[in-house]
Amino acid sequence: MIHTTEKINYIKGTLQLPGDKSISHRSVMFASMAKGNSEISNCLRSEDLFSTINSFRALGCDIDTSSATIKISGKGVKGFTKPAGSLDCGNSGTTTRLISGILAAQNFETVLFGDASLSKRPMKRIVDPLLLMGANIESNEICTLPLKIKPVESLNSIEYALPVASAQVKSAVLLAGLHLNEKTAVIEKIATRNHTEVMLNLPVEQGDGFSKIYSSKNYYPESKNYLVPADISSAAFFMVLTLLAKNSELLIKDVLLNPTRIGVIEVLRSMGGYLEVVDKNESSGEVYGDLLVKSSELVNVEIDKSIIPNIIDEIPILSVAGLFAEGQFKIGEAEELRFKESDRIKAMCDNYKKLGVIVNEYEDGFTLEGNPSCTDEPMESLGDHRIAMAFAVLGCLSDFPIRINEFECVAVSNPDFLNQIKKITSG
Ligand code: S3P
Repeated sequence: MIHTTEKINYIKGTLQLPGDKSISHRSVMFASMAKGNSEISNCLRSEDLFSTINSFRALGCDIDTSSATIKISGKGVKGFTKPAGSLDCGNSGTTTRLISGILAAQNFETVLFGDASLSKRPMKRIVDPLLLMGANIESNEICTLPLKIKPVESLNSIEYALPVASAQVKSAVLLAGLHLNEKTAVIEKIATRNHTEVMLNLPVEQGDGFSKIYSSKNYYPESKNYLVPADISSAAFFMVLTLLAKNSELLIKDVLLNPTRIGVIEVLRSMGGYLEVVDKNESSGEVYGDLLVKSSELVNVEIDKSIIPNIIDEIPILSVAGLFAEGQFKIGEAEELRFKESDRIKAMCDNYKKLGVIVNEYEDGFTLEGNPSCTDEPMESLGDHRIAMAFAVLGCLSDFPIRINEFECVAVSNPDFLNQIKKITSG
């Protein structure tokens, strides 16, 4: 589907967004692992989430998505059953990498596969530590999907220093570690999102310039009810849209405010953005609150490398903020962007060039300067939801329409994106 953007005049109103993608995945996984009944409120229902939900259904869990609250009857330790076929992880890196940690400890074989984008993404980063734990995993030479995860009697615990700042790798090892009596430890030097440790209440030791997270059988999840705060990564598109539109004000309800995820708010504030938390709450250790956003004059700032993992999913939309802000937008030390749903550095740079923006592309980032101008060429989302939504926001702020190819990919994280825009805009 091609989406053609329309200029908006201003933003006004209140938005209640669906649940955070990272927390929704983990809620479904932990509820499925636990023995007995759990319920998940405000769980995201997007294509990525259905990759996780359908995988756990195939492993024998009863998951009822027919009402507002998702009801899961989980299987308990060693309770999963061999799926009838291969598990389709779709476009979802989180499904693939986290479920691999769980499946590595099972006594039956599973095969994981995914769509064209996911099939290109690196899996060596999870296969390596899982092999160190004694898992039996087969893949091709470059270690991409499909992965064949073979049965093992048991795994062994490891202490693993993350070679790449990745919450998915950290989580894969910690989730495998939940099946062992002995402690498994993951050491990270650069903080990545910490939902796995927060939601499972894992012990975290703070060292000098690193943290060490432990898991073991003692922390295997039990059935409980989850309330998922609204997705801050989805909210980021509306933050930037409201900041850049004139005479605008938006209240985004119940936004996740976990410290390892609020980098986008911090960067936008340092650029001069008005973003105020007006009410704070907490559920299962995760902080959330209402975020009031108002039109602001933005100025580009230096973005420190230590914050990159915290804003990794928001860089496409932050670059739109940077394009309309005073000065040059610059992002560096963000090579990980090349391994997301698309090569996001190349995807953003190629599209910006079509709009006449002055772009410098580097291995680990890019710079932007100048004003976007009208083009006949469509933007290529490359089937990457965050690229599609970033250019949709750019289009809402431009005097000319922009066409964006493969726009249906927004369903990966926020199927209702266009309706949400409609609800708060005056065209
Ligand atoms: C995620 C971690 C991040 C992020 C992804 C979701 C998670 O990837 O980009 O969208 O839920 O753990 P990393 O593995 O690079 O941290």
